[in-house]
Amino acid sequence: MKDKTPVMKFGDSSRGNGEPVGYAAGTIIAAAGDNEVIAAQHCTEPGCGARFALSEQIYVCPDCGGLLDVVRGDPPDSPPEELKDIWHRRLASFDPRDRSGVWRYRELLPFAADAPIVSLAEGNTPLYDAPFSADYCKLSSLSLKHQGCNPTGSFKDTGMTTAVTQAVILGARTVVCASTGNTAASLAAYAARAHLHCAILVPRGQISHAKLAQSLDYGAAVLELDGNFDDAMRVIRELAEAPSIYLVNSINPFRIEGQKTVAAELLHQRAWRVPDHVVVPGGNLGNSSAFGKGFKELKDLGVIDRLPRLSVVQAEGAAPFARLFGGKARAAPATRAESSEAYRDLLEPIAHPQTLATAIKIGAPVSWKKALRAVLETGGSVLTVTEQEIADAKAIIGRDGVGCEPASATTVAGIKRLVADGTISRDEDVVAVLTGHLLKDTDYAINYHRKKLYIHEGDNDKTKSERRLAGTYSNPPIRVKATKAAILEGLMRHERKHKDDL
Ligand code: F0G
Repeated sequence: MKDKTPVMKFGDSSRGNGEPVGYAAGTIIAAAGDNEVIAAQHCTEPGCGARFALSEQIYVCPDCGGLLDVVRGDPPDSPPEELKDIWHRRLASFDPRDRSGVWRYRELLPFAADAPIVSLAEGNTPLYDAPFSADYCKLSSLSLKHQGCNPTGSFKDTGMTTAVTQAVILGARTVVCASTGNTAASLAAYAARAHLHCAILVPRGQISHAKLAQSLDYGAAVLELDGNFDDAMRVIRELAEAPSIYLVNSINPFRIEGQKTVAAELLHQRAWRVPDHVVVPGGNLGNSSAFGKGFKELKDLGVIDRLPRLSVVQAEGAAPFARLFGGKARAAPATRAESSEAYRDLLEPIAHPQTLATAIKIGAPVSWKKALRAVLETGGSVLTVTEQEIADAKAIIGRDGVGCEPASATTVAGIKRLVADGTISRDEDVVAVLTGHLLKDTDYAINYHRKKLYIHEGDNDKTKSERRLAGTYSNPPIRVKATKAAILEGLMRHERKHKDDL
């Protein structure tokens, strides 16, 4: 079935049913692509493959419950070299669509030319050279793609711009999500921009204060659930059965569409040189799915000629995907398709996931099949790292002058392991994707540096001191009297402590 996205004209004051749209001037940008787009939602289950119109408000396949992909029926009109040229020229444009690091690549997106884009100029995130982190991982160089520099401080904004745009197109009144904090903050902001009602469901007491503060400030209805993220996800999916409610967790394929453009932005920043490895943290596994889809589509279009290996890192206590992948992670290319079948339906959820990296404290990741497809297609790995490794890697990333939240630091911790076991060699070209900003979780950072970071409060087998993480690279504040001599003495102490660090 082929379908054209229902189109809303810029400035249109109705949703086609006579009701006012009610969004503020300036919120909605005029046009997405320069061409009409033919695309559909496809079920990803091999035995099903059903297709549905873009205008159908569904999150999984109504026939078999499989995950959905948005698939274009026609390639963009321009050949790959011309596409690169168009995208590059847009860097010098002040058109709001071009200022967005997502909509700049709109030829990759399933939106019509006059889609009512809801944007906060997302994307445009820096790619940093990180020599200190490289040295820590025993690599000759390492780049950090800092998605934490998005408008609300996490990578979620790149998918929220497309998901909330789709919500407006569909005429939804209320947008909802379950969240460990970042999706919530992002949705709350984009819903505010579009003047939509927003309700978010978060596990009570298990998300960082900063993320909670953001959602409150952006005006969302914040519902604190007695339960964990997986409980919240289950309940929100039931709630979203009502047609006036639109679910924007990463199970929503329009989220993935926006998030996949990060692959294009990353490659563009590297003059289209494909890295050997791209490493991402894994929680609900939407991000890894999106990177996989982005790279694959760019290769299919001829924009790049090979795929980077995509590896996913999970925290040891919240690692159902890594457990599934196990030792078979490095299946030989010839057997990858086979192993993809072998893995199907095998993910065993973890009932009580545990990690201080609360963003990825998830035991039943919704998008694991898509993430599996991406890892197998690219020949990547899935691995776990310990709480200590995450904490130390985060402090090391900080020494490069780059601040991320704990979940993001799994990447550098994971790369260190992959180098140590020979999966990545010293001179390979590696990009770690940092997904959230340091300021998302300052309690964690302060506790690490004060050596007061304790793992899993529910773990009764260990004494409090056994649960304390070592402050291997800690940099605690120094208390001084208000005299010049005391300050100089404090500075000398600091210098002595850190003299071997750099
Ligand atoms: N890093 C950060 C900072 C996150 O917030 C998340 C997910 C991930 C990594 C994992 O990405 O789920 O696509 O595999 N946060 C979600 C949330 C679950 O609700 O904010 P994923």
